[in-house]
Formats: sequence, structure tokens, C-alpha cells
Amino acid sequence: MGLFDGFRRDKKSNSQDSLSQRKDYDKSLQSSYADNLTAEVVSEEQQPETETIFESPVETQESAGEVAVEIETSEEDQEDIDLPIYKTIKPYSEKNPVDHVIGTTRIIAVINQKGGVGKSTTAVNLSACLGEMGKSVLLVDLDPQGNASSGLGIEKSQVKNCVYDALLNDVPLEEIIIPDVCTRLDLVPATINLAGAEVELVSAMARENRLKDAVGRFRGKYDYIFIDCPPSLGLLTINSFVAADSLLIPIQTEFYALEGVTKLLESVKLVKARLNPSLDIFGVLLTMYDKRTNLAKQVADEVRNFFGNLVFETVIPRSVRLSEAPSFGQPITQFDPAGKGAIAYTSLAEEVIQRGNQN
Ligand SMILES: Nc1ncnc2c1ncn2[C@@H]1O[C@H](COP(=O)(O)OP(=O)(O)O)[C@@H](O)[C@H]1O
Ligand SMILES: [Mg+2]
Repeated sequence: MGLFDGFRRDKKSNSQDSLSQRKDYDKSLQSSYADNLTAEVVSEEQQPETETIFESPVETQESAGEVAVEIETSEEDQEDIDLPIYKTIKPYSEKNPVDHVIGTTRIIAVINQKGGVGKSTTAVNLSACLGEMGKSVLLVDLDPQGNASSGLGIEKSQVKNCVYDALLNDVPLEEIIIPDVCTRLDLVPATINLAGAEVELVSAMARENRLKDAVGRFRGKYDYIFIDCPPSLGLLTINSFVAADSLLIPIQTEFYALEGVTKLLESVKLVKARLNPSLDIFGVLLTMYDKRTNLAKQVADEVRNFFGNLVFETVIPRSVRLSEAPSFGQPITQFDPAGKGAIAYTSLAEEVIQRGNQN
């Protein structure tokens, strides 16, 4: 699925009829999923194609340029900005000292088996905002595409050990974590090596618990640990279900918004029953909201009806700057600190802190 698909659909499909057709489709997904689920890797036939992987910064930049042309908004000027400068990777032993007392660590998986809904964008920018607000944050990139890693300015070819090595080679996270990629934000990077993990985990002992074992040792060392999940319901995602306390589900505010959500919720139910009884939904986030379209409003209402208070009040607007920032290896708070993307993710971070205090 391309970024523009939703945009094009926004323009042409604006009818209630189609929305109810989609609900029926979702119901059929629910039953077929319940019938087919085994402890093995969950097959994902119904899943839309995942987002294009940007292999090099140059390509990414071009793609970001395309985005700018297609969805240009009047508020956001296009201007030339320097090429990305990759960050120097320092060892964990050189991490800046933590400047406050860490309370309860919250492990939150950013999850939706649909690709291109804003998982990585949310994982990166929310983590960075929380870091800037004084929280100590670890972001675990669990997607072989490694978008969170490159989005934070990490040149993947320079990464020696990635999250794959924690899952399958018992390499301790201390040897994998890249400290201080942004203020108070550390990263467990992913490289393409992780692509093999989905298959290799199938025959591994305690295969669903690998991430939990690796990350669990870091409770008490961070305020938040976020996991950026791949767009599937395979073993990597199941590992994050087991490792996490709760889930943050980004939903793209477009025509097929709730497609597949019942399937995701079924998986959560199964994981709660069998693997992680305390797993909860932390919140549902509306992303890529285009306030100019009626469809966006309609879809947002529908998501709020479905999930009620779980939906964050903050809505992430569609913003060219948000889509450009990763190609410069910067979170939006650095790339465009005064823009609407940075404002939205800062407001989300405040809500996340507030919600945490209530639970
Ligand atoms: N709020 C937004 N406005 C504009 N583009 C966005 C926004 N959020 C994400 N994108 C872009 O949409 C694409 C998919 O987002 P991404 O976060 O990678 O999704 P996922 O991780 O769910 O696959 C990326 O190119 C990203 O830059
Ligand atoms: Mg992603």
C-alpha cells in the first residue's frame, strides 16, 4: 500500500454505504482468523501490502519530495535542507547518566498489522518528545525494515549487533543499545538481519518469550520502553505482545481505518488467554488526519465510537514535515520544532504521561 492510496481513496470514496461494506468485510475477517489461528506464525493473506521500504537516504529523500508534491499543504513551505548526517554510534558504556529517579517502567508496543498507518512515525516522535520532556526512553525497533532506526539517523550498515542478536543469539541488550540517539532516548536498532527471525524463531525454544527476556531486564532503567512492531501478526509481533504491558494502536484516518482491527483485537484476546494475561490497550491514536475532508471526520467518529475513551484526544495531522523528517534522521521536534507535527506529538506525549499517572 502506498502512502497516497489512502489520499486518493479519501477523494473518491466518501459514502456511508462503503463504510458499512467494510464493516461486513471486517466481520468475515474476524471469523476466518479465529478459525485459522494456531500457535504457529499467523498467516496474513488479507493484509494489504506493506509500506515501501526506503533503502537509502537518497531514495527516501526523493520519495519525501514526491509526497510533498502530492499532498502539499499551504501551511508548510518546502525548502532545501542539508542531507542527513548519520550519528556516531557510541557504546552503551558511554551512555549519559540518567538525571532522575526512574519509577515504574512502562513497556508499550506500537502495533497495527497494517503497514503505513504511522507506527514508526509515532514510535520515533513520541519517544523523542518524551525524552525531551525529561523521561528516559528506550525504543526497540522490531521491524526488519528498520524505519525507526534510520529515522533516528542510524546508518544500519554500521550496526554491529541488532535486535535479531538479542532474540536469537542471546547477545545482551547492553551490547546492542545505541545510547543517546536523541535527548534521553536510546535505541535497539533493527537491520535486515531481523527478516530471518520470523522463520528462525519458529523452531526456537520459548520462542514467544525472547523479547520479554531481553527487555524485561531493563525495567527500572527507563521510564518508557517502546517497541515499534512490524506490519504482521507473526512471531515478532507475538514477542512484542508478550514483552509489553500495553499496546498503542495507531489508526490511519482513512477509508479502511478499522479494517483488520477486529483481527488485531482477536489476537490480543488469544495472547491474554495464553501468554500475557495482563496485556492491555494503552491507547488508540488517529494518524494522518486531514481536517479538510469529511471522510476524516467520519472515520474519526467511527473509531471513537468503537474504542471510546481509549482513543487519545490528540490527533496526528497529515503533515509533509512528518514524512520528510526520517530522511534527515531526525525526530520532528528537531526537524521542525514549531510545526504542527511536533505540536501534535508533544501533546500526545503529555497525554501518555497523564494516562500513565491514572493507571
Ligand atoms: N502524520 C503524517 N503525515 C504525513 N505522512 C505521514 C504521517 N505519519 C506517517 N507518515 C508517512 O507515512 C508513511 C508510513 O508511515 P510509517 O510511520 O512508516 O507507518 P508504519 O510504521 O505503520 O508502516 C511514511 O512514509 C511516513 O513518513
Ligand atoms: Mg514501521
